Amino acid sequence: MLNKKLAKALNLQLNKEIYSAYLYLAMSAYSSYKGLTGFANWFREQYKEEKEHAGKFYSYLVEQGARVELETIEKPPLEFGSPQEMFEKTLAHEQFISRSIRELLELALAEKDYATSIFLQWFIKEQVEEEANDNEILAKLKLAGENGAGLLVLDSELGKRGGH
Ligand code: FEO
Repeated sequence: MLNKKLAKALNLQLNKEIYSAYLYLAMSAYSSYKGLTGFANWFREQYKEEKEHAGKFYSYLVEQGARVELETIEKPPLEFGSPQEMFEKTLAHEQFISRSIRELLELALAEKDYATSIFLQWFIKEQVEEEANDNEILAKLKLAGENGAGLLVLDSELGKRGGH
C-alpha cells in the first residue's frame, strides 16, 4: 500500500506523462503543418510512447490500491520554431521529466517504499535513452544548419521510426 504523499506524487507524474504525450502530439501536428512528414512521424511515435509511460503509472497506482486522480492537462504551445528549436524544447522537457523521476525515487527511498523504488528504475533507464535520442537528433540538426538538403535527409530518417 502506498502512503498518501507518494500516491499524490505518482498521480502528478501520471499527469506529466499525459502532458508529454499532448506536447509531442502538438509537435507532430506542427511538423505536418510545416511539411516535415518525417518529423511528424517521429513525434507521433513519441506521443504513443508517452501514453505508454502514463499507462504504467496508472496501472501501478491501481495495482497498489491507490486512488487515481486525473488532473487538468495543460494546453501545449501551437508554435515551436525551427526543427532545431523544437528539439531543444524536447530535450529541455525530457530533462525536466528526468529530474521529476529522480525526485520521485528520492521520495520513495526516503519513505522506505522499495516496491515503488523498483518500479521507478525502469523510468530512470528510459530517461537516459530519451535524452540520448534527443541529443543525437539535435547534433544532426546542428550539422545540417541552414542546409535544406541535410534537413530533408534527416526528415526521411525520422520518417522510418515506428513499430509501436
Ligand atoms: Fe515519459 Fe519522455 O518521458
